[in-house]
Amino acid sequence: MGNVTAIVPAGGLGRRAGGDVPKQFLLLRGMPILTRTLLHLTTSGLIDALILVVPPGAEEWCLTQILAPYPLPATIEIEIVPGGVERQESVFRGLERASEDARLVVIHDAVRPFVSSDLLRRTVEAAWSFRAAVAAVPAVETVKMVESGFVRETPSRDRLWIAQTPQAFHGDLIQEAYRRAAADGFRGTDDAMLVERLGVKVRVVPGDPENIKITTAEDLERAEVILSRREGAGCGSASATTFIPWSPAAH
Ligand code: C5P
Repeated sequence: MGNVTAIVPAGGLGRRAGGDVPKQFLLLRGMPILTRTLLHLTTSGLIDALILVVPPGAEEWCLTQILAPYPLPATIEIEIVPGGVERQESVFRGLERASEDARLVVIHDAVRPFVSSDLLRRTVEAAWSFRAAVAAVPAVETVKMVESGFVRETPSRDRLWIAQTPQAFHGDLIQEAYRRAAADGFRGTDDAMLVERLGVKVRVVPGDPENIKITTAEDLERAEVILSRREGAGCGSASATTFIPWSPAAH
């Protein structure tokens, strides 16, 4: 079908969540969150190449602490590139490194370690058919649009979905979307948004409620619960080597 390249933005410093260590670099039951994400992507059988975008200065550390100690398939080359100040810039840097042969690009956040092969497959297949696809789950809570402390509007819940990653696109389309956004100074909060503004219809693929984005300390607790149910209540997988944490302050 052609080359499928994954881009994994892992360049955030996670300041919102507090603490010094970006969430993607934290250990979850003995294995870094980012390593777990990369294992799911590279063992899915759906990806040919992977570009990992990390905070500038963390490239070497990622190689020795995130990749080398773990059994990632040697058949998939992982290229590490330095990211930008915001997620959009980090993904753009990854896209700039993608090969011209990348017919399909899958973008998946480092901080969503519970992505399943099924969800990846659904998203990739929809993107081959429709050019652009986004995983999303229906909103279960009522969403209010608020202005100056008062409700301005309550959009009908039946039409509201919460976007996740993976999001997948034809290579030429996502390249064009990111180039146009940069030229126009447009900032979006996900990748699909940049494609939507080109007038291209984005297909929605049923996501997975457990495909959570780990942003806060509460998310980390939830991740532990999901993992202990999946792996059993034992002490978790031991780290392959002595793990040396990364923090922006030290680099
Ligand atoms: O910023 P947000 O919480 O939406 O981050 C989602 C993903 O984007 C995370 O995996 C994070 O590491 C990544 N990111 C990035 N470069 C940034 C900011 C966030 O790659 N400058």
